[in-house]
Amino acid sequence: MNIILLGPPGAGKGTQARHLVETRNMVQLSTGDMLREAKDSGTEMGNMVADVMARGDLVTDEIVIGLIREKLEDTTDHGGFIFDGFPRTLAQATALGELLEATGKPLDHVIQLGVDDEALVTRISGRSTCGNCGEVYHDVTKPQPADGKCEKCGASDFKRRADDNEESLRNRLMEYYKKTSPLLGYYYAHNMLTRVDGLADIKEVQNSIAKVLDA
Ligand code: AP5
Repeated sequence: MNIILLGPPGAGKGTQARHLVETRNMVQLSTGDMLREAKDSGTEMGNMVADVMARGDLVTDEIVIGLIREKLEDTTDHGGFIFDGFPRTLAQATALGELLEATGKPLDHVIQLGVDDEALVTRISGRSTCGNCGEVYHDVTKPQPADGKCEKCGASDFKRRADDNEESLRNRLMEYYKKTSPLLGYYYAHNMLTRVDGLADIKEVQNSIAKVLDA
């Protein structure tokens, strides 16, 4: 089963994707994670995108489609792909459709995580992640364990993202409304879109997504 998790920054895409990886042996394809990895390892492409990401602008379609193409060719033997943060433009959505068709993989569901802007600011400003395994925490709703060790891998190196500041977030939201939100209509018209309440607590959102996937 191949699915897209669609929603603005902070909607919970990464949090839900990680749960699906653990429970359904699915593979998370997060273009944000891939780009951060390229940036941290100092590749030519990583250096090119660093400023764009820090501002909260979108990286070019060509770069992210290239990243996804490579992963689709590479990865085998799993419970399906979760596209997290991709596609973000109509050009990316069209390219994904063509890539999936060429590899004989169907797109089964597009799940919209519905949230409001107020909640996004609170979520993004409280977010941290484990620097080793990427587990996502929140200062209020999912605090780091009291012993200072990640509950998933035991590491004690927590990070906050460079683009999780108010100015960048405002720009990321603007980019979402201008370029990504039209995809809701696109996938609705393709009869693939299901909206779940992304404001519910993390477990409830997990259950809502499970209902869609198991229907
Ligand atoms: P990316 O890494 O994709 O960031 P994003 O879309 O802005 O999304 P986030 O990772 O910020 O949020 P999320 O929805 O995953 O929320 P999370 O689960 O962490 O992209 C970063 C940048 O890379 C972009 O700005 C762009 O420059 C570039 N880029 C990436 N893909 C691109 C593409 N396709 N095209 C062009 N450019 C691209 O949750 C957030 C917080 O909320 C956490 O603390 C979590 O614990 C908490 N939380 C989650 N769910 C709940 C809940 N139900 N209740 C309470 N708290 C919750």
